[in-house]
Amino acid sequence: MKVLVINGSPKGKNSNTYKLTKAFVAGMKQAYKSEASFEMEEIYVNQAKISPCLGCFSCWNKTPGKCCISDDMQQIIERQLQSDIIIWSFPLYYFSVPGGLKNLIDRQLPMVLPFMEEREDGVGSGSHPSRYDMSGKRHILISTCGFYTAKGNYDSVLSMFDHMCGKEKYTTIFCGQGELFRVPEVSKRTNEYLEYVKCAGEEYINGGILEPTRAKLDTLLYPKETFEAMADASWGIEEKTGERADDSLIFTKQMAALYRKEAYPGKDLVVEMCYTDVGKTYQILLGKDGSKVFTDNSKTSTTRIETPFTVWKSIAMGEISGAEALMKSMYKVKGDFNLMLHWDDYFGSTGSETSGAETSGKEQASGKGTGTNAKGIHMPVKETNMNIMLIPWIIFWVTVAIQAYVGSLISIGVSILIPLIFYKNKKTFYDTLTGVLVTGFSIVNILGVSTGITMPLSYLAFGAMWTVTCFGKIPLTAHYSMNQYGNEKALENPMFMKTNRILTFMWGILYVLTSIWTYFLMGTGFASFTGAINSVVPAFMGIFTVWFQKWYPAKLARG
Ligand SMILES: Cc1cc2nc3c(=O)[nH]c(=O)nc-3n(C[C@H](O)[C@H](O)[C@H](O)COP(=O)(O)O)c2cc1C
Repeated sequence: MKVLVINGSPKGKNSNTYKLTKAFVAGMKQAYKSEASFEMEEIYVNQAKISPCLGCFSCWNKTPGKCCISDDMQQIIERQLQSDIIIWSFPLYYFSVPGGLKNLIDRQLPMVLPFMEEREDGVGSGSHPSRYDMSGKRHILISTCGFYTAKGNYDSVLSMFDHMCGKEKYTTIFCGQGELFRVPEVSKRTNEYLEYVKCAGEEYINGGILEPTRAKLDTLLYPKETFEAMADASWGIEEKTGERADDSLIFTKQMAALYRKEAYPGKDLVVEMCYTDVGKTYQILLGKDGSKVFTDNSKTSTTRIETPFTVWKSIAMGEISGAEALMKSMYKVKGDFNLMLHWDDYFGSTGSETSGAETSGKEQASGKGTGTNAKGIHMPVKETNMNIMLIPWIIFWVTVAIQAYVGSLISIGVSILIPLIFYKNKKTFYDTLTGVLVTGFSIVNILGVSTGITMPLSYLAFGAMWTVTCFGKIPLTAHYSMNQYGNEKALENPMFMKTNRILTFMWGILYVLTSIWTYFLMGTGFASFTGAINSVVPAFMGIFTVWFQKWYPAKLARG
């Protein structure tokens, strides 16, 4: 299989479009298990010597099939003839192809015979027969354009390639918002798009781009308003004066453009961005209809972020995560810290499920609950649920304390039933371990071992299960609370992990202590109330947990 890439961007390798082309070719290669059977050649139109056609028709009459101009074009035609697949990679220029590529296309005249013939596919009102057998060749058009959508902008291009290759005889990947492919700050979203392009390349070789992938390719990188606000801000020009604007103001405006009004929490928020190294402060109002940047600091801020501008840039470029920078005291946050905890909901969600399709659909509002599988297809993400782990233990402690035999039977039943009831949730190792331990303790009870022994031991086992995880990679609570903080992504957040490590440790120790007093309680007249009594302290601990997981990160952030 010989693939020829014709890169028609004047930027050559620095072309936005070329990024898509490279991804597509990578997908094609992946489909070809043995690379030996896959050959790729590239032509850079910006480097090639291609003079404009002189219109002399000597390639038709004087020297049939040969142009009178001696430059790189003869070799380009030969390469086209030798290839099986031709990828036309180019930016949209004035709703058509760039001039250099148009020259190349014009200079293909030696490839056709001068005679007139009617086309069989009904395109246009005249045609020339091909000088060569081009019937087996496949063409792919990959292009980016600068407007928010590719829709409606490619009419001239399509018309030209309909004539060149035949109607519907070629495959297209057209992507709007092309300049975003060179913006590191939004690389998460553009890389996601490139993954779909790669997937398309693989599918193309295996028979054709599949519908779900095509839908992803046709999805806007960002909703129209977000993109246009970002694009306008990116030029770095003051709207009123037309003069060059301050970099930190441009940055603030671009960030404001990323605000997703679907995340509006019911009251206006004012984020005050204080860039300590450049001595500038700007405010972003996050309202229900969108965001607005204030340069006069006239608003009362709800959250104030004090950081050097350089740190913000590093975070935006993905060189360091916001949470990591905060842990390293690279910036401080004052006021309402809740905004920081849900930053991705307000600004950072760059995945396509949150960036809106052509219709800028409502489904982008939640920003959670989906993920991408290995094929790049979006699937619902299963969430963990702490109830799966807690309910069997609670049932065991309450019922066994009242009646050991019946309580144990109920506990075994619950351990079997709970995973069935919560079948939609993602199971953790601790859910499974719980099932095994509760069933084990219940069987031991049924076999006649005293609950005076099994009850304290069960609390000890439960406490140990929590405490031990504090010394491992992921503390137990993190497995469950990550659902509210972006799922697996939360596990990379050092602040989230530290908060959870402390909480897991406190809960673990509480239950280790509980096992001790349970041992003594089981010997008293209150034995049958042990389960109920032991639920009181955890209830307070639960209230403490809710408070602590907000207070502790905020305390760290205040520096
Ligand atoms: C001279 C010129 C003309 C352009 N014309 C259009 C256009 O008609 N429609 C459009 O959406 N974008 C237009 N653009 C924007 C480019 O298509 C866009 O920036 C593209 O991503 C550049 O791709 P490249 O980096 O692969 O060259 C134009 C850009 C230039 C420089």
